[in-house]
Parts: sequence; structure tokens; C-alpha cells
Amino acid sequence: MKDLTIALAGIVFFIVASCQSHSLQQIATGSSPDGKIDITVEVIRGQVYYTASKDSTLIIGKSKLGFEFKDMAPLGDKVDIVNVTSGAFNETWEQPWGEKRLIENRYDELTVSLREKKGMKRSFNLIFRIFNEGFGFRYEIPKQEKIDSIIIMKEMTEFAMTGDHHAWWIPAYKDRFYESLYRKTLLSDMGDTVCTPLTMETGSGKYIAIHEANLTDYAAMNLYCVDSSTLVCDLTPWSTGEKVVGRAPIITPWRTVIIADAPGDLITSNIILNLNEPCKIPDISWIKPGKYIGIWWGMHHGMYTWSQGPLHGATTANTKKYIDFAAANGMNGVLVEGWNRGWDGDWSLHGDSFSFTEPYPDFEMEEVTRYAAAKHVGLIGHHETGGAITNYENQLEEAFSLYQRLGVRVVKTGYVNSFLDGKERHKSQYGVRHYRKVVETAARYHIMVDIHEPVMPTGLQRTYPNLMTQEGVRGQEWDAWSADRGNPPEHTTIIPFTRGLAGPMDFTPGTFDFSNPVLPQTKVQTTLAKQLALYVILYSPLQMASDLPENYGNRKAFEFIKVVPVDWEETRIPDARIGDYVITARKDRNSEDWYVGAITDEHQRELTLDLSFLMPDKTYLAQIFKDGDNANWENNPTDIAITEIRVNSSQQLTMKLASGGGQAIRLKCLSP
Ligand code: NOJ
Repeated sequence: MKDLTIALAGIVFFIVASCQSHSLQQIATGSSPDGKIDITVEVIRGQVYYTASKDSTLIIGKSKLGFEFKDMAPLGDKVDIVNVTSGAFNETWEQPWGEKRLIENRYDELTVSLREKKGMKRSFNLIFRIFNEGFGFRYEIPKQEKIDSIIIMKEMTEFAMTGDHHAWWIPAYKDRFYESLYRKTLLSDMGDTVCTPLTMETGSGKYIAIHEANLTDYAAMNLYCVDSSTLVCDLTPWSTGEKVVGRAPIITPWRTVIIADAPGDLITSNIILNLNEPCKIPDISWIKPGKYIGIWWGMHHGMYTWSQGPLHGATTANTKKYIDFAAANGMNGVLVEGWNRGWDGDWSLHGDSFSFTEPYPDFEMEEVTRYAAAKHVGLIGHHETGGAITNYENQLEEAFSLYQRLGVRVVKTGYVNSFLDGKERHKSQYGVRHYRKVVETAARYHIMVDIHEPVMPTGLQRTYPNLMTQEGVRGQEWDAWSADRGNPPEHTTIIPFTRGLAGPMDFTPGTFDFSNPVLPQTKVQTTLAKQLALYVILYSPLQMASDLPENYGNRKAFEFIKVVPVDWEETRIPDARIGDYVITARKDRNSEDWYVGAITDEHQRELTLDLSFLMPDKTYLAQIFKDGDNANWENNPTDIAITEIRVNSSQQLTMKLASGGGQAIRLKCLSP
């Protein structure tokens, strides 16, 4: 299936003498396989720039590239293009789990080699991969005589947008852990450095998302806006102010730009995954997606404690109750938080006290894991570090070896602190190195990972499919304790198009009891039907049913959570408007069944679902979980109607969504 052709150097490389300025311009160009996206790399008076257009319309105007260093002159402003190669690549690869099984990886590549004309004559390469849905590019600073150790102070990469687009963004430094509500403003009104993915809507109705892929031993990228529409790269610093510390060769992450005609095409783009390296784990048979419950919501609601005492949640007896519930209801795992020493007192200030091998006396590890195994339920062990990562790294091998011995196959990690080890940012190069170390070490022990307070995902699950899911989003836990009343209804209509583009989200839906015993003004601002729809809309291969088991009981709505898959053959977005509503349709990987989730913001609305994605000539039983006639998120969230009808691919369904509401549908194929 692979087809790699490398064109000879210089094919698209030519030198133009500009008559007016008498300056020398050098230009290299490349296009997407369908010829619609064009990239130009040019050097003007020694400075290298790129531009991007789609269908001959400029998408990114002349944008600078290059670096500033600590102890060296900048790179990129006194260079010549010395070589250009281009090639085409086409393969289809299979994801072990995901939103889509088979991924087409088809692009044209343009490599532009640049060298300084004088002085140190340093060289570097720019590599562009141009897909039909967008492009990615990265820098490569090869090993060379004049460069050894490198301290990057600034990556000068720009994205000169061609208008003052609308953007959905969260601040890069003001909030913690990417747990913010997205703001929508014009680029010129952002007034802050923002995180990626940064999603924009242009005046002509295109959708553009900028992010990065394969963030390895480098600092995470943020963006700020100058001149009303030019976005400039801001690398997250070390506490010293340095951005990236290394030695040549240095290869940067890919800077990714998805260019879409509809919001849903952002979600179905595979650029970020494709720009990561193929799987490095030789045997992945132990990696399995699944659903889990947890000793968790009780802590967030103040009913249990992580620490020792009369309300301690993770006791042997309580964990066994959760295991029984999981076994009886087809849940694959039970998350256990607060099982280990270190939680007493203000744990986020004393991360160094955490032990990852010593359980509290009322949690009998051997007995609990034996009990879980006998019931075919997996435990999800929790490693909260309080940000003290040296303490964690010192125990990592021992902790994972213990889990491996006891058959704990998933770890949920946590880094609740403004800084790692008291001074470094989570998304700095320091943090990036740590998270990778944990994922790689876990892989050696056959342990899957769910990272909370992570660095923003960049598609690394392709290379390390044990990196199942991550938080890095304002998840449902905010509806338990946030002072601003919880996540507003529009939140989940935005995050699939922003944070969701980066990778799976451990958002933890599943609320059935909407009351909040501690903060009555703060609550889950959805209807029950919308909670169910979120299982289809928000992708995670480990999906939590986050409410207390006693709140699920035998309620019929729970049937949807029991049957909804977490691993998909394919995904479609039949209709969406960012911030207003989303419809997602996904086909189960293990059957002919489809599942649909539809959600709305605070406005009730009627949507039409065209069932043409179903197989023609087949009949499906649609099991519909919809808002009841009187449902609304504010004072009647649990009003739900559950109906069944037979449908086929030529039909359309009308879906009535309440304010803050939704609809979840299982389309069971009756004639396989
Ligand atoms: C924040 C995490 O997001 C949450 O899931 C966890 O329960 C607490 N930290 C404690 O580690």
C-alpha cells in the first residue's frame, strides 16, 4: 500500500530575480495530492517565509520561520535555499482503537534545505507534509560543525491569517491544566497568549485549526496575535526563561493546520495522528479500551474522602461493592482513588509524601485485586503526584511492577499543582519529558495510561497506544465543585472542535442525579438524555460512568451506557455549528450497529438526522433516548423518553432537543 516517490532535488526550486528591487527571491512550492492546497516557501532578502492557500485562496499569508537562541545568532534570516526535494506518500494503517479503524495517510512532502550564506554557514531543513485536509511542517536542525548544544529562546514561526477571524480559545498561562471555558472572540480581541488547538472560522465560512503533532522533548506551543491577525508561536518556558534545551540534531514537533469546509471536517481529519510515528510497542494485545466506574464522584461531592478517616472512600469493602456493580453491569474497570499513603492534609502541597506502593491500612490491595480478577473486572489504579514528579519518577518502576504483579492494567495519573517540582510548567520541556517517561515505562509493564493535568495531547497514542486518554479539559468534575456554577450548556458543543481535535478526552460524563448536596447552585447543566449523548460525542477509549452506582440502579437510561461502544469503525459528523449544536454518528467496530449523539447548548432546537450513512437495504431498530416533552437542564433534567422504531437509510429522523438537552440513539442492525 505504500508508495513513496522522491523527486529529484530542484524540481520545484527556482530562482527569480525581482526586477523592481533587484533582490534575489528563492521559491519552493508543493501541493496536496488533490492539488487544492498549495504551499510556498520563499526566501526574501535572506529571511525564510511560507504561505498556504486552498483553491487558490490565500489561507496563511507570508509567515516568518526561524529561531532565536541563547548563545548564538538567530537562524533563518540570512539564508539561501540550497536544496529542495519532494515526494508522495500513500498508505492506509489500522488503529488498535480509535474513532476510525482504517486511517488514510496520503500526503506530498516538500523538504527545503537552507543554509546561511556567510558567517557560521549553519544549515537547517523545513519539512512540509501537505494533505488534502491541511498540512504540517517541522524544522530539523541537523548535527553540524558549528552547532552543538542549543538553547532555543524563541521559535519564530508565524501563522499570518488572512483576516481577523473568529476564534475559540483558552488562555495559555492564566488558567491551569487547560481547564477553562472556551471564549469566542475575533483574533484581534484575544488579548492573551492562547493554547492550541486554536480553532477559527473565517469570514468566508472556512474552519481552520492550528495545533501540533508529535510533541517530543520540546516545549508545547502557544500562540499570540500581532497586527490583528498574525499568530506567533510562543513556546512554554522553563523557569529559567529558556524554551528548549538540547543538542543537534533537533527535530521540532509538527506545526499542524487543518483547513475545513465544515466544522465536522475538523473532527474527521487525521493529520495529527498521521504526523506521529507508527506504533513502537511490539505487542499490543494487552491494550483494551473499556468503560469504568470509580470511587471518585463521591469525593468530588464531599461524601467520601481520599484521606484516611470515617469517610475514607477506598476501603476494601467499598471497593468490593464497586467491583460487584461493575461486574453486574458490564463495566470493565473500577477506578480507585485515595488507596495509597499521602492524601492526609493538603495533599496538593505535599506531593512528596505520596507513596505509590503503600496502601492505607483499610485497603487490602492483594484481596481487592484478587476479588476484582475473580469477577473479571480490572482496577484502575490512581497515582496522584501533587506535581512532585521527582518523587513519582523515583518510585515509577516499583509502582508499575507492583501493578503488573497484581494485575492492575490501567493507571490514572494526576498532577494537581500549579507547577511540577515546585517550579516548572506542566507543558514545558521538563513536563513533556516526564509525561513521555511515564507512558514509555508503563508500556514496558503492559499498563495503559489515563493522564489528568497533562500536557495537551498531540497524537502520541499512535506511537504509544497505551496512552489511552487524557484530561486537559474542563471536565464534568467542575460541575461538582466549581464556584462559577459548573460548565454551561454550550461547553460540550465547543470542546469537540477545540480540545477534542488534540486527542481522546477523559471528560467523565454519566450524571444521573443532578442534585448537588454541597453547592446547590453548582450542577451538571444538561438533561439526562444529553449525558447519554456525550458518550458518542466526546471520544475516549476509556469512558467513565461517573455517577455513584446507587444513582444508576436499574434505571432504563443506564442501558445506553451499558451498550454504547468505546471503539469505532468510523465516525461522521452529519451536522454541527460550533458552540450551538453537534450531531455525531459512529459505527461500532465490532458489529453493524451505529450510534448517534446529538446535543444542543442552552437553546432548545429541532434537528434533522439524515440516516443515509446506514447500509442501504438493511433495517435497523432505532432505540431512542430523548428529552421528554418537559425536559430542560435547569429544572427538569431527568425527564427522558425512551422509544423504539424501525428505520432504514432512506429516512430522516427529527430530533427535538430541550434547552441543554440531547438525544442518544442506538441503531441496531436487524438484518446483518
Ligand atoms: C483532579 C482530577 O481531574 C480528578 O479526576 C482527581 O480525582 C483529582 N484531581 C484527585 O487526584
